[in-house]
Amino acid sequence: MNDLFSKFDPLIEMREGLLKGGVTDPFNLVMERVESPTVAICNGRRTILLGTYNYMGMTFDPDVIAAGKRALDEFGSGTTGSRVLNGTYAGHRAVEDALRDFYAMDHAMVFSTGYQANLGIISTIAGKDDYIILDIDSHASIYDGCALGNAQIVPFRHNDIEALEKRLKRLPPEAGKLVVLEGVYSMLGDVAPLKDMVAVSKAAGAMVLVDEAHSMGFIGEHGRGVAEAQGVMDDVDFIIGTFSKSVGTVGGFCVSNHPKFEILRLVCRPYVFTASLPPSVVATAATSIRKLMHSADKRAHLWENSKRLHAGLRQLGFTLGTDEPQSAIIAVIMPDLETGAAMWEALLHEGLYVNLARPPATPAGMTLLRCSLCALHSEEQVGEILGMFAAAGRATGCIS
Ligand SMILES: Cc1ncc(COP(=O)(O)O)c(C=O)c1O
Repeated sequence: MNDLFSKFDPLIEMREGLLKGGVTDPFNLVMERVESPTVAICNGRRTILLGTYNYMGMTFDPDVIAAGKRALDEFGSGTTGSRVLNGTYAGHRAVEDALRDFYAMDHAMVFSTGYQANLGIISTIAGKDDYIILDIDSHASIYDGCALGNAQIVPFRHNDIEALEKRLKRLPPEAGKLVVLEGVYSMLGDVAPLKDMVAVSKAAGAMVLVDEAHSMGFIGEHGRGVAEAQGVMDDVDFIIGTFSKSVGTVGGFCVSNHPKFEILRLVCRPYVFTASLPPSVVATAATSIRKLMHSADKRAHLWENSKRLHAGLRQLGFTLGTDEPQSAIIAVIMPDLETGAAMWEALLHEGLYVNLARPPATPAGMTLLRCSLCALHSEEQVGEILGMFAAAGRATGCIS
């Protein structure tokens, strides 16, 4: 028998090598108790959370929790069905209404995850003779959406406006084209030059999809994302988002002003052939989204946190993913995986959780300690975090 698992041997070996010194597995940490959006108990000790996507700190919001409990009581624990059969409850409609209001757009379609939203929308709208032009650092769900469909894939260099323009010019003018971009790229926390990229795409007759997973709730005057911040909302054809980050639960969506958008509910396989979100989840999402519309103070505080952490880490001597803070994500670049894992563990011992990120998730083979800030991190907590980075950095030789 040919063992189909033999292809994983190099990865198994690498993992065993990393863990043989008895270090904690960075990809298997258990949160034993979660006290708030910023604090959990891990390995029996109080740990500041700096590696969640809980940007706006909505997971413990009393109104959000009450809405979830009410829906659980009134509608039960799950729908046991697809959106197109028995899986559309009043709550699914209500969360789509909340999204339409949040984005001021005509249509909203909710999926069971953001991953499925990308999978479904990209594979369905770009067909056999069409082209998908995408940033090479796109999220796995975007690549998987491309793989599920039949369109030709044309990648271009990360955030490179000229490269995008060149690729577009080489394509047949009459062909259908979908340009896929992200507002914030989740590994380095850098923002796309959407204003120019959308202009270039429109000039070439392409439709534009922007994944705003990491900017919703935080970036832009109303928290609509980078497209709002750069004034191109009206030129973007589709915005993809998720409930698993600023919204604080699970689920995904696409919003659009396209007049034929609703037909997707019948033809989009990752929407049709899966069960819909539980009533408690859509109730928490709708409440959270409506509260995010009025969260300017939290957005301002999150920017303060981001600036404070970025400046502090830089001052300590760490190499960061961006020269300026561009989002709620600050990536600390590690020289290699071994040092990254040692630093990750040293931080955990200090009482700080961050994400250890490595290829294939990261660009250019980088190992990163990815820090994601929350609007509910206090100024004191950011100070504590910097103290922990200083101690762990010196203990591991990352800084002097
Ligand atoms: C850019 C981007 N798009 C989509 C997703 C998928 O979101 P979800 O967790 O809802 O599946 C992620 C998740 O990390 C993401 O970073």
